[in-house]
Amino acid sequence: MQINISSEAKQAIKNFTIPEELGFGRVMAPVMLEANFENGKWSDMTIVPFGPISMLPTSKVLHYGQEIFEGLKSYRIKGNGPFLFRPDENAKRFNHSAKRMAMPEVPVENFVEAVKVFSKLCSEIIPRRSGESLYLRPFMFSTEEALGIKPSDTFKFMIVASPSGAYFSGGTISVLIERSAVRAAPGGTGNAKTGGNYAAALEAAIETKKLGHDQTLWLDAVTRKNVEEMSGMNFNCIIDGKLVTPALTDSILAGITRNSLLAIAPQLDIQVEEKKLSIDELIEAIKTGRCTEAFACGTAAIITPIHQIAEKDGTVYKLPSAPGPCSTSLRQALLDIQEGRREAPNKEWVLNLE
Ligand code: COI
Repeated sequence: MQINISSEAKQAIKNFTIPEELGFGRVMAPVMLEANFENGKWSDMTIVPFGPISMLPTSKVLHYGQEIFEGLKSYRIKGNGPFLFRPDENAKRFNHSAKRMAMPEVPVENFVEAVKVFSKLCSEIIPRRSGESLYLRPFMFSTEEALGIKPSDTFKFMIVASPSGAYFSGGTISVLIERSAVRAAPGGTGNAKTGGNYAAALEAAIETKKLGHDQTLWLDAVTRKNVEEMSGMNFNCIIDGKLVTPALTDSILAGITRNSLLAIAPQLDIQVEEKKLSIDELIEAIKTGRCTEAFACGTAAIITPIHQIAEKDGTVYKLPSAPGPCSTSLRQALLDIQEGRREAPNKEWVLNLE
């Protein structure tokens, strides 16, 4: 597989200035990568200037949602880098999602190579402040033009990117428990990173926002008792000084940040426990003071402290500290690893593309 970079793409990078105010996912890098899957194989990849793509209104993705994506970051520290954090894990998860959504795999080495070449090309437009990065969004969608319900025969793989700051501008978040709607069910697509899971959470997001909160906390679809995840990130809390996070099921996305924290926490003398965490146990632990902190984690969210968890009837369970000591030290250790100030639990986690 070859990755071609057009001269217009190189020029677009030269002409680009990073704005002072970034936010998350609003400013787009001026280039994008494309490859097409046809006749059972992938074309070479090409990086061209960012712009509209042409597709017919009958493209299957527009009707049946056959689509998957990933999120990862490329960042620079003190003029060094670009660095990537565990891109092979994104590649593996992408292919897990592809399989579940009846889509072709992008070989791990091709996915990682694409991300590397793209990051190097964008080297000069990666923001430099700690916590800021070039957020990379690889994605794939079905392009076959027909209305029959069947897996598409053709697909497009793309990478777009956004120089980004914090996902949540407020620092800490308030979370609303969703007890009626469900995001994902056993045997469904909850542990695939596909747009439909995020679409399924949008109606609840409207209510969550209307009631003054930032994220929806989803419970399992069968018993409606166990905490699963939030709409765009994993849930964690500190109970009796231990990092507790819901054990993965087929309706929870296996977060790479979540997985990294489970390895980092013991290095900070924080024990970890992945378990079935019932919402009743969580509330009781907050009320009795055993649960001292809670936080969201994800590529975009990094670690975002939760200051309260609420019910739709207005009942609020306040966390004693946000950010608390454990989430602060976990966040710092994660950023220190990602930004090269601390050794990762595994040397292969951080890739220096210099
Ligand atoms: C990420 O953290 O990369 C995600 O895909 C979540 C999304 C809410 C931005």
